[in-house]
Amino acid sequence: MKQDMILILDLGSEENTRIARAIRDLGVYSEIYPHDSTAAEIKRMSNVRGIILNGGRNNVVDGVAIDILPEVDKIGLPILSVCHEGIRPRDRERFSGDDAILAKELEAFVFGVCKAERNWSMQNFIHDQVELIRREVGDGKVLLALSGGVDSSVVAALLLRAIGNRLECVHVNHGLMRKGESEQVVEVFRNQLKANLACVDAGERFLSKLANVSDPEKKRKIIGAEFIRVFEEEAEKLSGIEFLAQGTIYPDIVESGTKTAKIVKSHHNVGGLPADMKLRLIEPIKQLFKDEVRSCGLELGLPRGMVFRQPFPGPGLGVRCLGTITVERLEALRESDAILREEFQAAGYDTKVWQYFTVIPDFKSVGVRDNARSFEYPVIIRAVNTVDAMTATIEKLPWELLERITDRILSEVKGVNRVLYDVSPKPPATIEWE
Ligand code: XMP
Repeated sequence: MKQDMILILDLGSEENTRIARAIRDLGVYSEIYPHDSTAAEIKRMSNVRGIILNGGRNNVVDGVAIDILPEVDKIGLPILSVCHEGIRPRDRERFSGDDAILAKELEAFVFGVCKAERNWSMQNFIHDQVELIRREVGDGKVLLALSGGVDSSVVAALLLRAIGNRLECVHVNHGLMRKGESEQVVEVFRNQLKANLACVDAGERFLSKLANVSDPEKKRKIIGAEFIRVFEEEAEKLSGIEFLAQGTIYPDIVESGTKTAKIVKSHHNVGGLPADMKLRLIEPIKQLFKDEVRSCGLELGLPRGMVFRQPFPGPGLGVRCLGTITVERLEALRESDAILREEFQAAGYDTKVWQYFTVIPDFKSVGVRDNARSFEYPVIIRAVNTVDAMTATIEKLPWELLERITDRILSEVKGVNRVLYDVSPKPPATIEWE
């Protein structure tokens, strides 16, 4: 990689991600490495311009005090030790202030001491990754499970640029996708970008596996296991695959604690692939934060709708069609969700609200339609904001918007006679209903 890098040695501080982000915001690449990286390993990376030890000399990792300075000193690069002699409160004081102070301190170190160049940009990243992928893959073939989510879509676009038709994408439509989603994957990747794309329409297969299953955890397990089975079957039809690409991103690695970064990576393998496939893993966006993944996607020419897609759970509509899934309710759910998305977009709420969707319960209520008694399902609207999905607050939607969505759902969606608005925060509720 050409870009200069400031390396952060992880001594267990939760601030490391913030520091890496702040340095990247200065236009210099920064990455977090485990505290037990050796001097020799670091020296091999010729682009490292300086090292940040966040936590100081006598830090404690997993209850054991460690002293890494002697090892780090061997590298012979500028070092910024964030706290001295293991005085943790000072560590807090220094970097927990506002972001402007943090940026100033880091700026002085990065440019003043390390003389790093401001050369971290998305164009450079893409350029470097394309070269790296080409070097690693040679004339081999790469397999990718393309869900249509932001991460897998960006990986597909990047690999396409690097190796073109030696990328084999498999899109499994489990029949629990939102309206138009699988079609968009085919339109963008097969029709526009000319990618090799096998699109498996497995809706009926998933529904028959899920027939009469109402327990949420069982539903998730069935969907997950079946997904791997279908993907595996498709993969076996392809020949000469050596690599498996994955949309692992930086938070997947650091949020599990970089103390163990070397171990953490293996958690992100697609489980269940046959051992004899012996695929080597390619994770070209594993150094990117979510917003960087999005700018990478835009830079690669992916449509905005795909790049800014809201999070969508792996089991898809399966966990929003409560209890036993039926075709009738699944259809009502998909249609009401599409109306909600359309109206949110028209009102500018699609970029304002973190996650929004509809849910359909498995009970009916009495109503009147065309002067006659009706007995139909309700639809629930959920619209939440969150930073990390661990807690969530409710978006206070304007009444007029709720009314418009309600009118449309009640007149356009078959089998629905009530619309409810879920105003429960997380906790005690969760974002999804199942
Ligand atoms: P909960 O319902 O736990 O959801 O508050 C938190 C966030 O995680 C998403 N979610 C999932 N994502 N596979 C995923 O990839 C899943 O099985 C899954 N379940 C929940 C959910 O949509 C929300 O953004």
